[in-house]
Amino acid sequence: MKITIFGSGYVGLVTGTCLAEVGNDVLCMDIDKDKIEQLKNGKIPIYEPGLEAMVKENYKAGRLNFTTEVSAAVEHGLFQFIAVGTPPDEDGSADLQYVLAVANSIAENMENYKIVIDKSTVPVGTADKVSDTIKNKLAVRGLDIEFDVVSNPEFLKEGAAIDDFMKPDRIVIGTDNPRTTELLKALYSPFNRNHDRIIAMDIRSAELTKYAANSMLATKISFMNELANLAEHLGADIEQVRHGIGSDSRIGYSFIYPGCGYGGSCFPKDVKALERTAQEVGYSAGLLSAVEKVNNRQKEVLFNKINKYFNTDLSGKVFALWGLAFKPNTDDMRDAPSRVLFEALIRAGASVQAYDPEAMGEAKRLYGDEENLILCDSADAALENADALCIVTEWKNFWSPDFDEMKSRLKQPLIFDGRNLYEPDAMRSLGYEYISIGRH
Ligand SMILES: NC(=O)c1ccc[n+]([C@@H]2O[C@H](COP(=O)([O-])OP(=O)(O)OC[C@H]3O[C@@H](n4cnc5c(N)ncnc54)[C@H](O)[C@@H]3O)[C@@H](O)[C@H]2O)c1
Repeated sequence: MKITIFGSGYVGLVTGTCLAEVGNDVLCMDIDKDKIEQLKNGKIPIYEPGLEAMVKENYKAGRLNFTTEVSAAVEHGLFQFIAVGTPPDEDGSADLQYVLAVANSIAENMENYKIVIDKSTVPVGTADKVSDTIKNKLAVRGLDIEFDVVSNPEFLKEGAAIDDFMKPDRIVIGTDNPRTTELLKALYSPFNRNHDRIIAMDIRSAELTKYAANSMLATKISFMNELANLAEHLGADIEQVRHGIGSDSRIGYSFIYPGCGYGGSCFPKDVKALERTAQEVGYSAGLLSAVEKVNNRQKEVLFNKINKYFNTDLSGKVFALWGLAFKPNTDDMRDAPSRVLFEALIRAGASVQAYDPEAMGEAKRLYGDEENLILCDSADAALENADALCIVTEWKNFWSPDFDEMKSRLKQPLIFDGRNLYEPDAMRSLGYEYISIGRH
């Protein structure tokens, strides 16, 4: 099948590559010329395990191509995927300018029937806006060409994106045209062989499903963080509580890790956008506001612990920071808790020696000019002469470090752990002062 993907970021590139991998003819379009040039040269602008090899292989086989030409992109595919960003606007609502710009481009160039698929995370009612945009532009062109708009939200997780796309838990297809549902089912059939994962529904419900999923996951995290803070006041251990409730199959162990807050390109903006959608229809979504408020507070918890420990005098102190990406196995630093922490430390007069296994390039791009953020080549180098180590991302290679070696590099054996990686008793017996989340 012939497929066009607008937007070659985390979602667009993974979608395009996986669809090419199963034999389709895919053209990825992006307005970022550098990105397209890099992709043509086999360079992947993001870190996503397994993606680079798949892109190279499918590009070589001619099934995956890249362009910045809108007209070629629109001409190519029967299926026109919109996978561009939907960042938060000033008021927290999803900014639809990129989505609607693509809808406009499609309408300006289409000559025959197209299926336009919203894969970006978009508020309820966006498919109608996309549809109106296309209709209006076609009218200006004096044309009456048939098209369908489908909501097909993406649920992949950065760091496991290929697996999630190839073996999805579900494929949500929101359409009001049964024929389009059948075409989408055919498109997704290679990913739907083991059992039926397709959930067809109306367009508005499909749009809401994506926000509901992310808001539910964010709620679980904020709930546990709220409980972790309470456990500290009550002298309880949140990790024991986590085991105690996770064993209940109605609750489960997933997404109940206490920590220093959620970040990334999805949860923060999607919770905000849904809250804003609720406001627009005159409904006050109190739970969503609380989830966001708890998370914003949680991102400051580690700084507050550090500030308290040093009697609010951080001037001239040096902190090692392990982890910059918002979670392991990605280089994505959008809304990452690490940023809240190191920005606060620097504001308080400290300097930060940071290391992340994959996000150093991204950190350099974002903070290259910040002289008090020193980007280090290794986890060990970050520790050199630091007053304390702060851990913000639970990368696998931080789980079992050489604690004796670490002691010899740090000025004092002091760790602030925002991800509860180690056992407090074991750390104490190794001679560390170890301050984590919701434990003593
Ligand atoms: N990143 C995730 O884990 C994830 C998961 C599920 C859903 N989503 C949603 O998918 C959407 C895309 O997210 P992302 O993380 O891939 O974004 P991204 O920022 O990584 O990529 C977006 C790309 O779109 C390009 N673009 C912008 N305008 C364009 C246009 N007019 N034509 C062609 N390309 C254009 C940009 O240059 C950029 O390369 C968002 O709505 C996001 O909420 C993201």
